[in-house]
Amino acid sequence: MQKRYITSPIYYVNDVPHIGHAYTTFLCDMLKKFYQLQGKDMLFTTGTDEHGQKIEQSAQKNALEPKAYADKISARFRELWNEFHIDYDIFVRTTDNTHCLSVQKAFEIMYDKGDIYKGSYEGHYCISCESFFTQTQLGENQSCPDCGKVTQIVEEESYFFALSKYQDKLLAHFRAHPNMIAPAFYQNEIIHFVETGLNDLSITRTSFEWGVPLPHNPKRKDDKPHVMYVWLDALLSYLSPLGYMADGEKMPYWEHTTHFVGKDILRFHAVYWVAFLMSLELPLPKHIYTHGWWTRDGAKMSKSIGNVVNPKEVANAYGVESLRYFLLREMPFGQDGDFSQKALIERINAELSNDMGNLLNRLCGMSEKYFDLKIDSTDVEAYFSEELEQIHTLAHNTQEKMYHI
Ligand code: ME8
Ligand code: MG
Repeated sequence: MQKRYITSPIYYVNDVPHIGHAYTTFLCDMLKKFYQLQGKDMLFTTGTDEHGQKIEQSAQKNALEPKAYADKISARFRELWNEFHIDYDIFVRTTDNTHCLSVQKAFEIMYDKGDIYKGSYEGHYCISCESFFTQTQLGENQSCPDCGKVTQIVEEESYFFALSKYQDKLLAHFRAHPNMIAPAFYQNEIIHFVETGLNDLSITRTSFEWGVPLPHNPKRKDDKPHVMYVWLDALLSYLSPLGYMADGEKMPYWEHTTHFVGKDILRFHAVYWVAFLMSLELPLPKHIYTHGWWTRDGAKMSKSIGNVVNPKEVANAYGVESLRYFLLREMPFGQDGDFSQKALIERINAELSNDMGNLLNRLCGMSEKYFDLKIDSTDVEAYFSEELEQIHTLAHNTQEKMYHI
């Protein structure tokens, strides 16, 4: 049986889940179920991203130790996915010991290969995005070009990943695989980003402690203890549940991987992650499916902005399946969409109740009236060959659309 691997992002535990997280997770679950219907052997992982400054600060605000705080919020994500009948296979946490070992091992492999070197970082950092920016990338008043928040000036000893070395290889790969990042305009965006030139990436931090520590290696002498940059840590969470650094038992799933991401984190996946994988000499993801944002009155729904909709409340009011249907139906894949109760009610009434409900009602009514509710399939093929043909075409087209988002 063909093995396929689907991943959701691992969500930050700086706050509880909202509609945006539910959307990505429903998408993964939907694709897993679709592939299962095709007889494929599926593995689907989701989880929580628990290290870094952003989480350390959230824990402080809540007067908890980071790990205790992460335990609490991580459980909220897991409980919600269980309530929503999300059929994930593994829930990974970046504080899992096996995960930390994977990150350390990956660091050593890239270091031994000469792709990691020591330097010192001087630049700006956005804690909310956990992302580095150069002066020229910043918005007005030194703000983050992605989320608009004030950035911090960082000046510290750091290890760097030689990202610039991979620029041509990345471009060659994207050009040879035009359907890797979908919808296609996201792939064009990434190609453009890489073409404008890549800087080497700082991948360790020394100014705080809440992260995977650098493994001890006598070849390295550091003034201060380093912890891994949270994105290196987080991206490795796609490999650690496969037993990457343990028995490797589930690694065959890696051969056919689909990542689902929101457009906010595409660059980390399409550029940094793909380059890390090239350095680790592992197969690259087959697909990075990228979706847009759920907005409220035009602004991105976000924990940091505080304009979020609680998916549990919506599910309690309208039912989980209605919510799942609405999220997958309302927003054209890749574009943004505004979340409103009005739109949700309209979809439920018009499509689920009127269209589907009425169809079912009529079918049951007529088959009772004319056929005593007996289903007799004799001669269906002879009498309804045209209709059957249409159904086959429809099923085929649906499949095509699912494979080429
Ligand atoms: O970025 N609309 O975690 P995160 C649609 N830990 N989707 C949304 C959304 C919105 N308004 N808001 C969030 C991180 N999402 C990192 C990921 S992966 C190795 C590490 C969804 O908690 C969407 O999938 O900020 C987005 O990419 C993800 O949640 C970001 O979640
Ligand atoms: Mg975010």
